[in-house]
Amino acid sequence: MRRVPSPHFGHWREHFAGVDLPVPIAGGATVTGVNFDNAASTPPLKRVRDAVNGFSDVYSSVHRGTGYKSRLATEAYEQARELVARFLSVDPQSQVVIFVKGTTDALNRIAAGQSRLDGRQVLVTEMEHHADLLPWRHRSGHVMVGLSPDGHIDLAAIEHALTEGKGTIGLVAVCGASNVTGFVSPIHEIAELAHRHGALVSIDAAQLAPHHRIDIGPASDPGHLDFVSLSGHKMYAPYGAGVLVAPRDFFAGAPEVMGGGAISIVTWDDTVWADLPDREEAGSPNVIGAVALGVAIETLLELGFDEMLRHEVELGQALHSRLRGIPGVGVLGGAEAPGAAPRLGLASFVVDGLHHGLVAAALSHEWGIAVRNGCFCANPYVFHLLHMDRREVEAVEGEVTSGHRKALPGAVRASLAPYNTALELDRFVEAITQIARGRLKATYEQAADGTFSPAGGWPRIASPLNTLVKIGGHK
Ligand SMILES: Cc1ncc(COP(=O)(O)O)c(C=O)c1O
Repeated sequence: MRRVPSPHFGHWREHFAGVDLPVPIAGGATVTGVNFDNAASTPPLKRVRDAVNGFSDVYSSVHRGTGYKSRLATEAYEQARELVARFLSVDPQSQVVIFVKGTTDALNRIAAGQSRLDGRQVLVTEMEHHADLLPWRHRSGHVMVGLSPDGHIDLAAIEHALTEGKGTIGLVAVCGASNVTGFVSPIHEIAELAHRHGALVSIDAAQLAPHHRIDIGPASDPGHLDFVSLSGHKMYAPYGAGVLVAPRDFFAGAPEVMGGGAISIVTWDDTVWADLPDREEAGSPNVIGAVALGVAIETLLELGFDEMLRHEVELGQALHSRLRGIPGVGVLGGAEAPGAAPRLGLASFVVDGLHHGLVAAALSHEWGIAVRNGCFCANPYVFHLLHMDRREVEAVEGEVTSGHRKALPGAVRASLAPYNTALELDRFVEAITQIARGRLKATYEQAADGTFSPAGGWPRIASPLNTLVKIGGHK
């Protein structure tokens, strides 16, 4: 059944930069591009882009300068921190907001502080992005719990592992929402379980923060969140900053990253560390990135964040039901778990008989539609969703380690943002319908690294870097 498009469709589009870009497609034509690759990275809000430009005029190094610009920059930087804190309902008494590069950086910082978890292990689920898996695997070691056959978090499995662990698990690390299925995790229930067993909880909110409300909760609430990590480039502020919210007492000793700005005094022999957050922000911070993130949060709230989220959910439900209606298309993961929040506006799918890379290349080359394909940096989850057993995965591992990346399984992912419209969805559904029928307008070649490109190559790209080089007068 066709859903009625949201009355808000197109409502927010004018606020996002670069979303009506003309893109070259097969046969020499040009169409307005469709970006269904928002889970990878998002375009900036225009207000953020303009604020970054404006702020560049007053930019200066923060904290240590008495000059007017330095004071102004410091104020903007600290305001951004304040905005993040309010956005996530951080408890400033017990928690600290630290600016980092992004979610990967944030999670690695927690893992680097592993000694503070007294050498205990980290519990992860099979759903995790590699950023929320490898730092634990290669530092503390992890216990990985399985999921339901449909790809949902299994609370009973988490509880069982915590009980079996008998106090050896110091942290439960889960994603707030999956970048593969869009399932939203029951983070407060997981937090309660972790706390009951004497562990902390870390939420990888790279996907959750831009598409869902997060309420960290006061430390007195058993379901409160201890760590929350997010990336500015996934929430319309792609200027290199992200956030780690952490318990203040986690960062009690010497920081992992040491240098200027992190100290109170350094003598010939002694170092006295500064208070938080400075102690964990050694070196010159990414002021512009942090300000951009602050402006993005302010803008989302002003434009109507909750309404945007409703629009995304509505369009996402239409994406799912229409994809499921196309013969030959299989969507990864089942419906939402009973009682769970609606999934994010995101769907990963496979097309019978066609390599995921070929589908993605054809969407781009023939329809001007940007998606992502592969395993989305979540190999174990994708293997689970594709129902691959250990023997099959080992066979693929053998192929890949001997250099044959063509063997890598995967899927195609379409991921939405508030500026996407029902008309764009129509074009996408039409494209997948044609592709699933085998109606490709061009021929494609697969390279040794597994990627597909049109025979004869992609249409030439006018790189903005070439333009910059020309402006600079260089060849
Ligand atoms: C669920 C999830 N976690 C972590 C990350 C890593 O984020 P970043 O690359 O911004 O560090 C991503 C990025 O795709 C993600 O989707």
